Amino acid sequence: MLQRLKELEAEVRKKIDDADSLEVLQSIKQEMLGRKGQVTAILRALGDVPSEKRPLVGKKANELRDLIEKLLYEKKQSLALKAQEERWDRERIDVTLPGTPFLVGQKHPLTLILDEIKEIFCGLGFQVAEGPEIEYDYYNFEALNMPKDHPARDMQDSFYINSNVLLRTHTSPVQVRTMEKKVPALPVRIIAPGKVYRRDDDATHSPMFHQVEGLAIDERISLADLKGTLLLFAREMFGEEKQIRLRPSFFPFTEPSAEVDVSCIICNGKGCRVCGQTGWLEILGAGMVHPRVLEMSGYNPEKVTGYAFGMGVERIAMLKYGIDDLRLFFTNDLRMLRQFG
Ligand code: DAH
Repeated sequence: MLQRLKELEAEVRKKIDDADSLEVLQSIKQEMLGRKGQVTAILRALGDVPSEKRPLVGKKANELRDLIEKLLYEKKQSLALKAQEERWDRERIDVTLPGTPFLVGQKHPLTLILDEIKEIFCGLGFQVAEGPEIEYDYYNFEALNMPKDHPARDMQDSFYINSNVLLRTHTSPVQVRTMEKKVPALPVRIIAPGKVYRRDDDATHSPMFHQVEGLAIDERISLADLKGTLLLFAREMFGEEKQIRLRPSFFPFTEPSAEVDVSCIICNGKGCRVCGQTGWLEILGAGMVHPRVLEMSGYNPEKVTGYAFGMGVERIAMLKYGIDDLRLFFTNDLRMLRQFG
């Protein structure tokens, strides 16, 4: 009997050792410790063992049963651990792999230029003012000294909503709206950035574009103040060595009026293809606010004077960044837009 127990122990150790699944372990358990199991049979047969040997055989048989249970338990644990490790291997995630890249936005080149313009003028004490893009004929034309049927209206082919309302063709109406609000508090110093609309569409004109208006009103403001301010602007925007010049021009809401040029940012005044050999690039329109405009907005033109200017943001951006087609700003081509900012 003892011999048999020894053989069984060796047999069962090997079987458990070789077992590679929970099912195999289960069947070993059944085979040894089940109702008809081999160890169970020995335990049952103890009664037949001669009484002097019975305690020893019984002890050994119980020890074997306990051993088998312990070995089964340990093997079960190690199989579970192995299964878990295999699963981990299978499902391993390499956390060092670079993630899916996502696009980080950046400012549009026009926004960058606008930010720069605001920064320059806010540094000079100007405040940012805004007005509606859908505007009354009165503010867009009338109060700027362009009565109905005035020929100057032809320069700004417009989108009308009805005979009194249109998409503003320039930011100049914000001048009037600001003056109306501020009268009589002085000084007035504002810039008004925003979208404007005209019935134009080619490489240098878009039906929607951006302007920045400037307005300063106070006692004894002169053309020299305008020129000094614009010179400073041109130098901050295009470089320290830049010059500006004022060419006589006409706007109904300023008198005198001027087109303002900056020395060519490519050739610095020597003459090149970009400036058409003139050495100068036109950047904005400006002038002294017309007495009639001051009057219509509630000021006494005998007491106060002011200057105004208006610039195209796309034009400044095209010059500064060397972009030759204005439509590139609005076609959302990231290859172009990513080059800035
Ligand atoms: N509003 C003009 C335009 O869009 C630009 C302009 C010219 C604005 C002279 C001004 C100015 O304030 O003084 O063509």
